[in-house]
Amino acid sequence: MARSIADLYWVMFGAAVVVLAIVVGALVIAGIRFRERPGHQARQYHGNNVLELIWTVVPTLMVISFSVLSFQRLALVNDVDSGTAMTVKAEGKQWVWNFQYPADPKFKLSDGSYLTAAEELHIPVGQKVKIELSSKDVIHAFYVPKLGGQKDAVPGRDTVTWIQADRPGTYSGQCIEFCGTGHADMLLTIVAQNPTDYAAWQDAAVKQANLFNDPAVAKGKQLFTTLACAGCHTVQGLTGGKVGPELTHIMSQKTPIGGIAGLDVNEANLIKWVGNAPSLKPGIVMPVFSNKAGGPLDDDSILAIVKFLETLK
Ligand code: CUA
Repeated sequence: MARSIADLYWVMFGAAVVVLAIVVGALVIAGIRFRERPGHQARQYHGNNVLELIWTVVPTLMVISFSVLSFQRLALVNDVDSGTAMTVKAEGKQWVWNFQYPADPKFKLSDGSYLTAAEELHIPVGQKVKIELSSKDVIHAFYVPKLGGQKDAVPGRDTVTWIQADRPGTYSGQCIEFCGTGHADMLLTIVAQNPTDYAAWQDAAVKQANLFNDPAVAKGKQLFTTLACAGCHTVQGLTGGKVGPELTHIMSQKTPIGGIAGLDVNEANLIKWVGNAPSLKPGIVMPVFSNKAGGPLDDDSILAIVKFLETLK
């Protein structure tokens, strides 16, 4: 859509440059050559039918052709339905874009709902994606300059547009209808991926969202905050223990668990660590938790705590 609009823009720009050159050129030449000066008397003209016909007919033809070209583009811009590969809902609200992926099995979460996201939308490359726009409060406008024209999101009225990325990449967008104090910060990003990358992202995104729907995660969080964990470890916004390492971003950590070479941060290793850290790092102040080694927790509770840790990215 953006390319089609840009093509038309360049045609109009080219025509405007030609018209400007002719008009200004004629004005300058006439002003110099035919001006009144010593020894030369400027001639007086009273109308010229041929000239007047030309500068009436030519601009009229230009305006008509630009109108026809514009209507052709409008048909393309407004055609949201033909060849649509997927439909995404985008809701503008002060001051964020919220996206709802389609009710497709691939986006289905374990609680029966479908994947959602804020500010960043992933789309498959080369496929037409219909965007159903709505607004929760005031008028916003969806605009990703490299992909398409802008479309308003109006409260109480549904509008639609579409985007299609021909090449993989990250495309920046912005709300471009002034919508209040945070308007300038109402950015959005479209990430277009080729089919393999898209499928991989889709799996990972659904898996990550499902983590929060997992009853074990809720149980793990409950255990983490009520047991000894909370007294020693900080998880920003949740616990404030200072004795052990902070765990807020444990899953993004590249250093192995406890700094022990080979003990990469993953579920299996976290289970070992939470169950019996002293067996892996002798002398550590973290006590044994596994009831197999004399600690207070059974395997299910340890797994629940690890499931909760896995949400910390
Ligand atoms: Cu939303 Cu400007």
